[in-house]
Amino acid sequence: MGNVFDNPSFFSKYMELRSDYNYNDYLEHPAMESLLPPLKGRSVLDLGCGYGAYAMSFMRKGSSSYLGIDSSSHMIEKARTENAGAGISYRVLDLKSLDTLSTVFDVAYSSLVFHYIEDFDALLRNIYAILSDDGVLLFSQMHPLLTASYGYSGYFEGDYFAFSSYQEEGRREGRWFKEKVVSYHRRLSSIMNSLSDSGFIVDRVLEPIPREEDIREFSQLERDLVRPTFLCIRAIKKKSK
Ligand SMILES: C[S@@+](CC[C@H](N)C(=O)[O-])C[C@H]1O[C@@H](n2cnc3c(N)ncnc32)[C@H](O)[C@@H]1O
Repeated sequence: MGNVFDNPSFFSKYMELRSDYNYNDYLEHPAMESLLPPLKGRSVLDLGCGYGAYAMSFMRKGSSSYLGIDSSSHMIEKARTENAGAGISYRVLDLKSLDTLSTVFDVAYSSLVFHYIEDFDALLRNIYAILSDDGVLLFSQMHPLLTASYGYSGYFEGDYFAFSSYQEEGRREGRWFKEKVVSYHRRLSSIMNSLSDSGFIVDRVLEPIPREEDIREFSQLERDLVRPTFLCIRAIKKKSK
């Protein structure tokens, strides 16, 4: 199945959303920044890098190199145009094909992509294989409380108390910007157990809570005082499984 981010109308609406200060900027990004390991002299792989929004900032923080991979050629094209620089490279690559990378990385970073991946265990095995000893995996995804329900009408619309089917894992089809978007629901316990079974030690977990001053600026954030939108996890590769 094609990547919905390559659909021109979806892509332009997504980029419009990202051009305004939004949920990611208020909640997800600060949480991820707070979890970043020291980057000085460390190589970074950005899984599902989109348009490379964080490439430059990782390099400014001292990364030795940055490789962004994404299965959307639209995203990679935009990344190459807008977020290029010394030490930064991009590749169109599906996360399913991570095993074709032969390089080793110190940090695997991924922002809001893993809920699109069907086989989480295979993904974690592949990430484990390309991380250096004591390498760090830092990722965020839509919180399992939000990926649970069938037939959501968009992550940011509708009744935010709507919640169902948490215990039933698997494929969900929803609509975002009127397009069909497929994602995969996993219970929080499954995510934690998969990390552990794949040789990672979970080091920190965040379910970002909005600040009062941000709610005053962007009232939708009030929902996140009731339930989280994002789940952010930092995990360390154990030397031997
Ligand atoms: C919500 S966007 C996040 C982009 C970027 N990480 C950021 O935070 O700006 C999700 C990204 O995941 C990418 N993606 C979805 N499924 C993928 C897959 N199987 N392999 C690689 N990238 C994928 C999409 O193309 C899109 O760029």
